[in-house]
Amino acid sequence: MSKTITFHDYQPQIQSLKSAVIAGLSKADKAIPPKYFYDQRGSELFSEICEQPEYYPPTVERAILRNNSEEISELTGTDRLVLEPGAGSATKIRLLLEPLQPSAYLPMDISCEYLRYSAAEIVDDFPWLPVHAVCVDFTHSIPLPEAAPKRHKLAFFPGSSIGNFTPKEACHFLDMVRETIKPGGMLLIGVDTKKSTDILNAAYNDAAGMTAAFNLNLLHRIRDEAEADCDPENFEHQAFYNQERGRIEMHLISRCRQTLHLNGNEFLLEKGESIHTENSYKYSPEEFIALASQAGLHLVKHWLDEEALFAVYLLKS
Ligand code: AVJ
Repeated sequence: MSKTITFHDYQPQIQSLKSAVIAGLSKADKAIPPKYFYDQRGSELFSEICEQPEYYPPTVERAILRNNSEEISELTGTDRLVLEPGAGSATKIRLLLEPLQPSAYLPMDISCEYLRYSAAEIVDDFPWLPVHAVCVDFTHSIPLPEAAPKRHKLAFFPGSSIGNFTPKEACHFLDMVRETIKPGGMLLIGVDTKKSTDILNAAYNDAAGMTAAFNLNLLHRIRDEAEADCDPENFEHQAFYNQERGRIEMHLISRCRQTLHLNGNEFLLEKGESIHTENSYKYSPEEFIALASQAGLHLVKHWLDEEALFAVYLLKS
């Protein structure tokens, strides 16, 4: 069978690390968005996190997808156009491609180089599958290339990536997905659940220190790429579950009073002051189903593991 891969470059523009850091450190509550974690080293460290026993989401989500792939495909039917915003290494979709028999697969990612690589790997292993790789910032738009077959859509958004958005942003994102996939569209989405604080705190404070290294890597980037005089040794990793807000918060805490110099700007950090680097919102099934329906996406079926550590939802527009 012939292998078909088509590349569509929408030339996503990402704000430079330097300007994001200047903007983020100028705020009263200092914060840098989590998308700046993912340079080469950051992506490697994230893969390491996914191997840690405390970080349950990838293992549990995979088991849910594997155990229910036949039922999922019965509910979606075959021959859909499967699109995956932020596909990254595109490993989880592999569990579904045989049962789903899509008419085409459209991985979308902001990192064109990585996208080319993971799309090629998919085509190697699933030579019957037409792949349209779409290089785009999916938080701004989810374009469907003209050349892709005209079929009912199935969007796939695993990994609880939606947790990085605030609930309001998540609702906007789901609304954009619904606009893209209608009519007859469906969304299969993996979302982390609310659970005991101990389990959540352990997942973001693994004993091997991978999450700490991932968080602190941002400071290495700020030093090496944004050319700030910052010493990562002067900060420590902090991650905790904020029960009131229903989210894990990650921070970099200044170990001392220090001044960072960046591009002619000076930023004073008090001892104990934080740079907020990530939120990871958790949703009970009731909460998530309500949020999705606010965005016009209605539950077909959802699946949880036995301990209710993670949930996968199939929604339709
Ligand atoms: C990729 C956003 C789903 O929030 O659990 C893992 C990122 N940060 N450990 C998450 C992350 C620290 C992850 N998401």
